[in-house]
This record gives sequence, C-alpha cells and structure tokens, in this order.
Amino acid sequence: MLFKKKDKQQNISQQKLPNHIAFIMDGNGRWAKKRGLPRSAGHSEGGKALLKVLNKCNELHIKAVTVYAFSTENWKRPKDEVEFLMSLPSKYINTYLPKIKESNIIMKFIGNLDELSDILKADINKSIEETKNNTGLIFTVAINYGSQDEMLYAIKKVSKDVLEKKVLIDDINKEYFESKLMTHGMPNIDLLIRTSGEIRISNFLLWQIAYSELYFTDQYWPDFDEVELYKALSEYQRRNRRFGGVEEV
Ligand code: IPE
Ligand code: IPE
Ligand code: MG
Repeated sequence: MLFKKKDKQQNISQQKLPNHIAFIMDGNGRWAKKRGLPRSAGHSEGGKALLKVLNKCNELHIKAVTVYAFSTENWKRPKDEVEFLMSLPSKYINTYLPKIKESNIIMKFIGNLDELSDILKADINKSIEETKNNTGLIFTVAINYGSQDEMLYAIKKVSKDVLEKKVLIDDINKEYFESKLMTHGMPNIDLLIRTSGEIRISNFLLWQIAYSELYFTDQYWPDFDEVELYKALSEYQRRNRRFGGVEEV
C-alpha cells in the first residue's frame, strides 16, 4: 500500500478516490508572463507538472487520467507557439516512454490525429503500441481534440450504421452512442480539474462530464503539484454525488 488508509495530513481516504480524473491544464502562458519568460517556458514547465501529477495519480491507483494538451481551437495561436506545443508530445514520448512502460501505464490519444505531423503520428503510435499490454492507469492525451468535433464524428458513424442497417434507429441508446465516441471503453469521468482561474470547459469532453464533479483552482498549471492534487481530491471526497437521486444516509 502506497499511502495510509486515511492520510491524516491531507485528509484523503482511499475508499472514495475518483476512478477517472480529467485535467484542463491551463495557465502556462500566464505562469511564464508573470516571470518575464516566453510562453514556451510555461509550456515546458507545464510538461514537468504533468509528469509529477501523473506519477502521483499512479501511486494512488487512480484508474484513468485524461489531459487536454491541444484543442481544435488552439490552432488560432501564433505559428511558433503551435509548433512548440506540437513538438512537446514527441519530446516527452521519446524521453519518458520507457518509464511509462515500466510504470504499467497504458497510453491512449483522443482527437483528430490525422491532421498531426507524420513524426508525431509515428511517436503516438509507438507509445500506444508499446504500452498496449500494460494493465495499470489509462493515460489519455487529447491532441487536436474538440468535443463538438468528436460528437459530429460519432453522429456520422451512427448514421453510417443506420444506412448500412447495422442498427435500428430505435435501438440507438446512450451506450451505443458512447461506443462511437473517442473515449469509448474508458471509465466515467468522476472529477474534472481546471487550473488558471477560468471557469469554463473550452470544448473538452462535453458528453463525458455530464455527471462529473467540477473543480476549478486559480493556480496556473505549472504550479499544480501534489499538494494541489490532494486539495482537489479532498474537496471531491466532501461532495455528495446524487446523480439525480436522493442523498445517501
Ligand atoms: C494551457 O496554457 C496550454 C494550452 C492551451 C496548450 P495556456 O497556453 O492556455 O496558458 P494561458 O491560458 O495563456 O495562461
Ligand atoms: C483549453 O485552454 C485547452 C487546453 C488546455 C489544451 P485554452 O487556454 O485554449 O482555453 P480558453 O481559450 O481559455 O478557453
Ligand atoms: Mg489558456
């Protein structure tokens, strides 16, 4: 056991941990600006924060972690920033893939990956391939991801199934629709964390967070560490999840 049943200092209980946490890692640019650094320095520092958070989630036996790395809207940024952001996943895959493999983590990606560079696509495929037989935490990176695009893509797949008579319209239910989403097969998102003080979803996992607990913190992503994670988990454990029902007594 990696941590005590009830961690007194952080007031976390192992029983009520979320299965799946999603992170909107926001505030890298402002973190850098505050220090008089280029925005790219904030993104590099954000990468380091992600590694630490992932490691901690793995230690806590969280089943799945999904992170927003690049949205379908982020293409609007200056070309050099887009290029820098797009270079980071390959850099991390090439440096940390052996460690990820060894940590029993399964790597997955969501988003329109077809539009990414051939080098990045190859690195993505390598990381998926090399971790596919692992059995631990499912780590999903959203790159060129937008929830509205994902839903349109799913609707097109469903329509195709209808046309090909693979499904009857009356048989299309929630489970069937979910099977067409990029997140199919993943556990429900219990907790969505957004850093940087922005209180919005920015086109991330709109279907999947229907009943997630939402947690917003003013911390910029590069400052989000183990202590901040514990704060979020402790808040999560204080919430009463009713799912439309009545409070459990
Ligand atoms: C999040 O930080 C990283 C990405 C969106 C890729 P930002 O780059 O959005 O940082 P701020 O919000 O400008 O501070
Ligand atoms: C959301 O952050 C996208 C990622 C973290 C990858 P943004 O910084 O792009 O979102 P907005 O522009 O504040 O909504
Ligand atoms: Mg931002």
